[in-house]
Amino acid sequence: MSILIKNGRIITASDDYKADILIEGEKITAIANKLNIKTDDVEVIDARGKLVIPGGIDPHVHLEMPFMGTYSSDSYSTGTLAALHGGTTMVIDFILQTQGKSLKHALKQWQGRSNGNCYGDYSFHMAVTDFNEKTKKEIKQMIDEEGITSFKTFMAYKGALMIDDGQMVDLMSEVKRRGGMVTVHATNGDMIDKLIAKHKAEGKLSPWYHYLSQPEVTEAEASDRFCDMANYTDVPAYIVHMTCEGALNAVQQAATRNQKMFVETCIQYLVLDASLYKKGFNGAKWVMSPPLRQPKDQDALWAGINQGMVQVVGTDHCPFKWKQKLMGKDDFSKIPNGHPAIEHRMELLYSEGVRTGKISLNKFVEVSSTNAAKIFGMYPRKGTIGIGSDADLVIFDPKREHRISVKTHHMNVDYSAYEGRKVTGKCHTTILRGQVAVEDGKVRIKKGYGQFIKRKKVSKVI
Ligand code: URP
Ligand code: ZN
Ligand code: ZN
Repeated sequence: MSILIKNGRIITASDDYKADILIEGEKITAIANKLNIKTDDVEVIDARGKLVIPGGIDPHVHLEMPFMGTYSSDSYSTGTLAALHGGTTMVIDFILQTQGKSLKHALKQWQGRSNGNCYGDYSFHMAVTDFNEKTKKEIKQMIDEEGITSFKTFMAYKGALMIDDGQMVDLMSEVKRRGGMVTVHATNGDMIDKLIAKHKAEGKLSPWYHYLSQPEVTEAEASDRFCDMANYTDVPAYIVHMTCEGALNAVQQAATRNQKMFVETCIQYLVLDASLYKKGFNGAKWVMSPPLRQPKDQDALWAGINQGMVQVVGTDHCPFKWKQKLMGKDDFSKIPNGHPAIEHRMELLYSEGVRTGKISLNKFVEVSSTNAAKIFGMYPRKGTIGIGSDADLVIFDPKREHRISVKTHHMNVDYSAYEGRKVTGKCHTTILRGQVAVEDGKVRIKKGYGQFIKRKKVSKVI
């Protein structure tokens, strides 16, 4: 069955116009002022009064991930379905190499959990936690055979995920040689560990001290160091979940030497701040790394988006149920790090960004979809509305008001980090590769429809 979307206002990263869209199979096959297709085999959707935007791409999620002695609570099915409810048609999840084991070993484990279980499309970044001669040989294989072209590194979480600067530079050189990208959790792990130990020794054990253990300087310093190493090795590089002015300044400095550094922030860093850690243990809901920051950092990030310094808004979706958060009841350092947001990114960004006049509609599309597709080697198959592109589309009602709540969300987590927040703008219909996936809250596809998307080598399209 084909789909004809009539009367919509089409928004891409660069355009804003009224036209009809014809979808045949998985692809967009025609866009024109008035399309009149006369056959019974076409589902007609009237998008009058609504926006038609590219399906969202969230390049930073952790589904069913083993972390801090437990697993993030959304599976590949619940997480990708919640994403579709919120207009995100594709996610990029993280594989974590176990130190001492191969990348292939980790890939198999992640495939075991994800294969056949996704509603939405997905890909993986490969987190390299142990770079050695054996791992080095696997980089080419990941890129050329598996379509996994981005390699995540951690400058924190020592003993579990962190690599040192020597490994970082070697990994960067190999990834550069093979046509990939290095991404980073850029915070100074040693400094953070010292501050955690100090606070614990002083009996300071509440979530507020999670915040105080990761001051802005820990992120600014690591971001600066990462930029320098990426510059030295000339590898395409991307900083995930940037939160603060100091880190952005480091990237700005890199830009003055004509270095291209991609930056992602996440929706929570734009709309929530560190005052939430003052709510006693309730603050555990927002314990994540890096932590929420100050209003001045939010201002810097919005400005960074408008100036093109920040190209992507993701979520770092890594939900834990309240029982799991209670693992750190008496010690903030044992609270599993992460919060749930996969479902709300697009609507929050529209409501808090476009509605308030902080960003334009085109910028909204650019940072929620198009740039991620370009940076991670999927454009123009994904991330835009064009003939030949995958029909991944959201029909978005810009006027509909609603409130976010645990009672209505679809994520597998028993609290909302945005409980009661009023949002203007709602995803009405989400279409994935030519199938209506969710329509007005009703699911119309089956588990397993989501496909693994092999990505191209990193190009310089952006
Ligand atoms: O708190 C977070 N961010 N949890 C997920 C792991 C990571 O560092 O991205
Ligand atoms: Zn991280
Ligand atoms: Zn993350």
